[in-house]
Amino acid sequence: MRIVLLGAPGSGKGTQAALLKDHYSIPHISTGVLLREAVANETALGKQAKAIMDRGELVPDDVMLDLIRERLGQEDVRAGYILDGYPRNLAQAEALDAVLGDVGLPVQEAVLIEVDEDQVVERIAKRAMEEGRSDDTEEVVRKRMRVYEEQTAPVAGHYADLGLLTRVFGEGTIEEVLERIKGALQQGVDG
Ligand code: AP5
Repeated sequence: MRIVLLGAPGSGKGTQAALLKDHYSIPHISTGVLLREAVANETALGKQAKAIMDRGELVPDDVMLDLIRERLGQEDVRAGYILDGYPRNLAQAEALDAVLGDVGLPVQEAVLIEVDEDQVVERIAKRAMEEGRSDDTEEVVRKRMRVYEEQTAPVAGHYADLGLLTRVFGEGTIEEVLERIKGALQQGVDG
């Protein structure tokens, strides 16, 4: 199964990807996690990315393409993948199509997790208190939401044009959302 998860900040992409990873035994590739690891390890990438992430903006496309190309070149991806946080704009979506076309592993399903804005604000406020992620402050979350609306939301249209997009209601319990996603993926496989 080769899946892209789309959705606003706090919509549950990371939570659901972790569960789908166990269910399908395929890697979960989160560019947010890869970047936060680079920041924690103080690598050159991490030093470049930190200030950008803390402002709620997107890390430059060429940097992200190098990162994702390297990850998608690893052996475990041949079994399938769940992409979370990439692609994040139309240029990234087109670059990803080219990279995956080259390795013969094109996206099979794109799932857009839809959650009302009030709900995501509430979830992120809760996470901010529990985990203290540096980009979860109210001001930065507002910026991330704007970046999502302007740059990332159009990516759903890209996959809709390819006939690969499914929309899933992302509210309710984590288990309820997971069952909806699994149902949508199964329908896609069954055609
Ligand atoms: P990234 O880490 O991708 O952040 P994001 O897209 O803003 O997503 P979040 O992690 O906030 O939310 P999520 O949808 O994964 O939800 P989650 O499952 O955590 O990116 C961070 C930054 O890195 C970007 O701003 C950018 O700077 C940079 N970056 C990353 N990728 C990039 C790219 N491709 N190009 C350029 N820059 C890039 O859930 C949120 C909370 O809600 C959790 O606490 C969870 O427990 C809870 N929750 C989940 N589901 C439910 C539910 N059903 N009910 C109640 N609570 C729930």
